[in-house]
Amino acid sequence: MNKQEMSDVLAKYNIKSPLTGNDLTEPIEFNLMFATQIGPTGLVKGFLRPETAQGIFVNFKRLLEFNQGKLPFAVAQIGNSFRNEISPRSGLIRVREFTMAEIEHFCDPNQKNHPKFESIADTRLTLYSACNQMDGKSAQQISIGEAVRNNLVANETLGYYMTRIHQFLLTIGIKPECLRFRQHMNNEMAHYACDCWDAECLTSYGWVECVGCADRSAYDLANIHKPLAYDWWQRNDAKTITDALSKLSINDVNDVEQTLKDKQEFILNLENGSEFKLTPEIISVKHSTKTVHVEDITPSVIEPSFGIGRIMYALLEQNFQCREGDEQRCYFTLPSVVAPLKCSILPLSNNAEFNPFIRQLSTALTKAELSHKVDDSSGSIGRRYARTDEIAIPFGITVDFDTLKEPHTVTLRDRDSLKQVRLGIDEVIDVVKTSLSEELSGLKYLKIPRI
Ligand code: GAP
Repeated sequence: MNKQEMSDVLAKYNIKSPLTGNDLTEPIEFNLMFATQIGPTGLVKGFLRPETAQGIFVNFKRLLEFNQGKLPFAVAQIGNSFRNEISPRSGLIRVREFTMAEIEHFCDPNQKNHPKFESIADTRLTLYSACNQMDGKSAQQISIGEAVRNNLVANETLGYYMTRIHQFLLTIGIKPECLRFRQHMNNEMAHYACDCWDAECLTSYGWVECVGCADRSAYDLANIHKPLAYDWWQRNDAKTITDALSKLSINDVNDVEQTLKDKQEFILNLENGSEFKLTPEIISVKHSTKTVHVEDITPSVIEPSFGIGRIMYALLEQNFQCREGDEQRCYFTLPSVVAPLKCSILPLSNNAEFNPFIRQLSTALTKAELSHKVDDSSGSIGRRYARTDEIAIPFGITVDFDTLKEPHTVTLRDRDSLKQVRLGIDEVIDVVKTSLSEELSGLKYLKIPRI
């Protein structure tokens, strides 16, 4: 609906504020993009980017050259985005400045298959299709291979990225039962998209969109190369107008040219029943003859778009735990791949005899490139375990009085199971490293060996 149509509906049904019964104001136009002034005079208007994607699109030519002129290829970028949200709320979930990470995968619009699709085709995802949403049905578990075969997901490349998003989110610690992909319904699809699935994570605010995965077709590259005169048109109408123009036959185009010459305007009928006045200032018709040796295509774009703040929020909330029977003892079950520190070293007390062993362990951990922390502060060992659990450190090595005896041993403690095992000081770092790398490579998390 445009402004007037909305106003008419409000008037027709005499719509009031639901809480207070007050009259509503007339609908106003609202720009979701953040306006700013550029330069010292402040006369040049600019807009902060609402997505990182556009920087990639305007550099497309260079990027294509960088890829030896071949499709497909993908580009990734991370950075800040700004949106003039009407109502920022819910902590990190809806903010006006946020970090986005986007991948733009450019491919031939006629070949949206993906060479690695077979390798992930059997992965089962929870898909909440537009049809199921309309019919009031729930989400379904289905392999991505089947979803693409049944045209539920538009093409292999889109399906491939959805699966990679699924793998990524699980790897960093999102719970499988708290993850689903919801398809956009026609009335919510962005103007540029022809199919779009949101990876949604379950939080205390309900299901929250954390990653969007859209097939943007050729929308951006096609429009970036349009004449700037298109800026004259209101954003809302731009797509409808370009669609109407692209459907004109050669005879229609001749008619446009003649009418513009005679009357200095041409009334273009749009699909939504409205009209748009073309004038010579905003459009001109050029005739040219072209011999075609190669087919020109405008590449399509598949775009996974990650909202880092929302992912972090869901991750922290889903991994926040309290020890059974002791609600004061909270901890994070973050997988070690995202835990900022991988291991702690905890001397049982501040006995100076422990120092050489602490130094030995710390040096070995540094050499193994494992971030770690020595907690030799005062406080009971229980309190210090709790402190390392609170900051999600997956492993703790304790140096105690047995360490002083030959053969020198330490205990290794697992944050989640609380299990401990005594190991030789020379082997403990390898055990930590193996446990971490097995987790990273996607194998079953090797808890504590040799209990
Ligand atoms: N280029 C595609 C695009 O911008 P989007 O769904 O509008 O798609 C992508 O945004 C992601 O950015 C969303 O999935 C969400 O995680 C995050 N996001 C969007 N608006 C946000 C806001 N106001 N605050 C925090 N994150 C936001």
